[in-house]
Amino acid sequence: PLTPTGDLVTRADRHRSAVVAFNVVTLEHVEAVLAGAEAAGTPVVLQVSENAVRFRRGHVLPLARAAAAAAECATVPVALHLDHVRSDHLLRQAPDAGFSSVMYDASRLPYADNLAATRAAADWAHSHGLWIEAELGEIGGKDGEPPRDPHAPGARTDPAEARAFVADSGVDALAVAVGSAHAMTARTATLDHDLIARLDAALDVPLVLHGSSGVREDELAAAVARGVAKVNVGTALNQAMTGAVRRHLAAHPEAVDCRTYLTAGREAMTREVTSILAGFSRA
Ligand code: G3H
Ligand code: ZN
Repeated sequence: PLTPTGDLVTRADRHRSAVVAFNVVTLEHVEAVLAGAEAAGTPVVLQVSENAVRFRRGHVLPLARAAAAAAECATVPVALHLDHVRSDHLLRQAPDAGFSSVMYDASRLPYADNLAATRAAADWAHSHGLWIEAELGEIGGKDGEPPRDPHAPGARTDPAEARAFVADSGVDALAVAVGSAHAMTARTATLDHDLIARLDAALDVPLVLHGSSGVREDELAAAVARGVAKVNVGTALNQAMTGAVRRHLAAHPEAVDCRTYLTAGREAMTREVTSILAGFSRA
């Protein structure tokens, strides 16, 4: 059934565990995430990014409605989250599209501008019943940007600044820069666990880890033990799908029916989701 994102993250945070939020681009992604979550018997978040909306020719409703319909049939709790929103126009469509939460991303702006934009977004979100996540300390590698070195000086969230940012903006969760980067295709990121613990101590809202495709299972478990309560995974699913489709088409050059290779892609994503969620229950 559909469940509010805030409930899943708050419960995970209280139990020192985390809910995994998977980015979905196609209906096959949605089906694979739900199949994997049901196999693992764990709640899950389906998240649609502003980039995915752009890919859907600027329309949020078709994928959001499909995801909501699929979530309602699921045997595990499923939340719908709108991810990396920069456009106020898209933010304002979130409640009608069925999202219970948004991540508002003004992190590339200077601190004062990020705070002002995020505070306005949080006021609007709360007055429309949405749970809101924001980002401080820009996590690199977004939207075709060259993956920025996550270990470059300055690419970190400062705990004191984060405390002030959360208090002054009123957000419900914070995405933090602690060593991960978006769009990594190998699990080679090294997280700053000491910083995660200091951020957790400084803030009374849950921490969110972005770019988790690049983070090994043991590193993820350590991050969750120190206070990360929402773990965002996108690239790993695309890698699984694209690899499986490529292999299928190479082995079946005569293929015509798109269902044959989409089935291979969906199954590969389901295995990936199941294995990521199983890693969490082992932790
Ligand atoms: O918000 C989405 C996530 O941060 C996904 O990052 O594609 O590197 O796993 P990823
Ligand atoms: Zn992200």
